[in-house]
Amino acid sequence: MRKVAVLTSGGDAPGMNAAVRAVVRKGLSKHCKIVGIRRGYAGLFSDDDFIDFHLGSVAGIIHRGGTVILTSRAEEMYEPEGQARAAERLASEGVEGLVVIGGEGSFRGALALEQRGIKTVCIPGTIDNDINGTESALGFDTAVNTILDAVNRLRDTATSHERIFILEVMGRHTGHLALAAGLAGGAESVLVPEIKWDLEHICRRLLQGIERQKTHSIIVVAEGAANVFEINKKIRDRIKAETRVTVLGHIQRGGSPSAVDRLLGSRMGAAAVDLLWAGKSGLFTALKGDQIVAEPLETSLGKKRPFPEKLYELTLELAR
Ligand code: F6P
Repeated sequence: MRKVAVLTSGGDAPGMNAAVRAVVRKGLSKHCKIVGIRRGYAGLFSDDDFIDFHLGSVAGIIHRGGTVILTSRAEEMYEPEGQARAAERLASEGVEGLVVIGGEGSFRGALALEQRGIKTVCIPGTIDNDINGTESALGFDTAVNTILDAVNRLRDTATSHERIFILEVMGRHTGHLALAAGLAGGAESVLVPEIKWDLEHICRRLLQGIERQKTHSIIVVAEGAANVFEINKKIRDRIKAETRVTVLGHIQRGGSPSAVDRLLGSRMGAAAVDLLWAGKSGLFTALKGDQIVAEPLETSLGKKRPFPEKLYELTLELAR
């Protein structure tokens, strides 16, 4: 394999740069040319977004959040005509292998290119951690820690004012981020799209806490589970307590990647190059236990990562 390209696609995630760095350094160690494609798949449709990489190109990026080769959500890749043009462009540039770092939507584009003759391996990169087949995706660990920092700060002011705080976190249509941050942050309640919740039950738990002289409560709400402003009004009306809402938003997407995400990105980036080098394609690097394994792209498409209901029950059990 003489030339490999790498791109980052979809929502950015801390750790993507560690993966890009590993792809470049591992590829160059095999005397393979490495090109970075800027702005995700959109770079395949523009003239000046192919960047020749050398060892120094990825110096000093492992600690940086975001992605140095930028990202986007390219509409062209949703249509067969665009997919064909993208494959032709890669072939015309002499690219024989492609590493795509992103979420399920990015995997879908990668499969389309693979079916058009471009050997492709993906790396899961999304703070939502909703990709079926891997225990973790790049960015998840860093985003959970970012949310925990916010929960800690909210606890201070919630305690001072004896308030209930309702915190909205990201996750699109899933609750993995909310669950991990809720359990690790000791939240009194966690609302996720995967589990039916009952406001009356939440209010009862809050009232029990007030009766036990709890000075404050934190409710973590996944953005896909409910409208936090509606929840806030209903709780305030129901239990006559002081409440406030915080929507964390895109803060969760930034920040220097945690050690976990830097290690994961480095291991998956190197593994992706090894797979291409072995002539493999149509796969993604997945974390299983402490191993990085290869899963067929189809494993992730159209299926959401199973929600750990037992962990959810434990969260509520421990948050008495
Ligand atoms: O998929 C990652 C994610 O951060 C989701 O959690 C969130 O709903 C979405 O991206 C936001 O998308 P955008 O960055 O396009 O506003």
